[in-house]
Amino acid sequence: FKNYLDQFFLICFPQAEYKKGVILYMALITLRQLLDHAAEHSYGVPAFNINNMEQGLAIVDAAAQTDSPVILQASRGARAYAGDVMLRSMVQALAEMNPRVPICLHQDHGNNEATCLSAIKHGFTSVMMDGSLEADMKTPSSYEYNVDITKRVSMSAHSVGASVEGELGVLGSLETGEAGIEDGSGAEGKLSQEQLLTDPDQAVDFVSKTKCDALAIACGTSHGAYKFSRKPDGDILAMSIIQAINLKLPSTHLVMHGSSSVPQYLQDLINEAGGSMPQTYGVPVEEIEKGIKMGVRKVNIDTDCRMAMTGQFRKVATDNPSEFDPRKFLVPAMNEMKSLCIDRFERFGTAGNGSKIHVISMDDMAKEYESGRLNPETKP
Ligand code: G3H
Ligand code: 13P
Ligand code: ZN
Repeated sequence: FKNYLDQFFLICFPQAEYKKGVILYMALITLRQLLDHAAEHSYGVPAFNINNMEQGLAIVDAAAQTDSPVILQASRGARAYAGDVMLRSMVQALAEMNPRVPICLHQDHGNNEATCLSAIKHGFTSVMMDGSLEADMKTPSSYEYNVDITKRVSMSAHSVGASVEGELGVLGSLETGEAGIEDGSGAEGKLSQEQLLTDPDQAVDFVSKTKCDALAIACGTSHGAYKFSRKPDGDILAMSIIQAINLKLPSTHLVMHGSSSVPQYLQDLINEAGGSMPQTYGVPVEEIEKGIKMGVRKVNIDTDCRMAMTGQFRKVATDNPSEFDPRKFLVPAMNEMKSLCIDRFERFGTAGNGSKIHVISMDDMAKEYESGRLNPETKP
């Protein structure tokens, strides 16, 4: 009978750690394991930012419906907004409610070691050490600073099985030389073209020195809604840089930040309901699809989800000014966001892969790092 019960729980909750039929916790997947799977099967994984329960429900519902693994990422701002205990408990609840969805909980734009290590302490399975900027997240850093801090975070994170994303190159617009204006983390002042485009040779050196698991690159994208003043071409969205990096680092998982598409239908939804967003352009989904063919494995999206939710808030408020039940705003907002997430899971090829993954625990990942088997493959 005990065996039968064990089998039953394993089938129902494949990622759970349980004792005597009681779920202790649902194991979250590490970024490294997830992106290794994505690379092996040539797909990309959206990394959606979360701050609250409704965003979490919308994203993980979309992942469950499309059988996709997913990355939920929390910025420092999100951690301050919701609190670490709330975020961890919320993500655990989402995992328990959706036991077949491999979920990675990732720190977005960690500014120093303390941010990254405290995230791991609070149940994150992956961290971004953004050493492209100094700890103030405004001053572009030196290459030596970036290598040094990313390497230190990698050593600590890997010793407990957590993954690390590094960043080389500074996010910002090739049109204006500036970081996004809505940026929670972004360079101040004018940036040179050299800073705005990751150097492929330096990328090889950076990955081999820091042993990061994934590399965020700069190719002209920026955070927020105002990325491009026209539909981007190769002059302002340098997909060619991604190709050049991929040629030199074919087994490194590349990350595209600032990858919201800022779709016209969401700009219209907001503006038709009394908003005033000036016309703007994001990263076309077809460019991201090209990127995925060139080694992009993690695609960061926050702004599109914000626009989807806020667009529906505005619509409900405009269509029905007497409404005051928050759920009447939040349900359409979640539905709008969910349909955007479903679209990205399908377009990035993530759909259909969730059930193929069996989560490896962080303890076992730590052993893999210790053995050297997860060291980056870089050719001199
Ligand atoms: O890093 C950029 C993300 O969109 C997070 O933004 O810092 O306002 O949470 P945030
Ligand atoms: P967007 O502002 O384009 O959604 O980018 C989000 C991001 O890169 C989070 O790290
Ligand atoms: Zn980012």
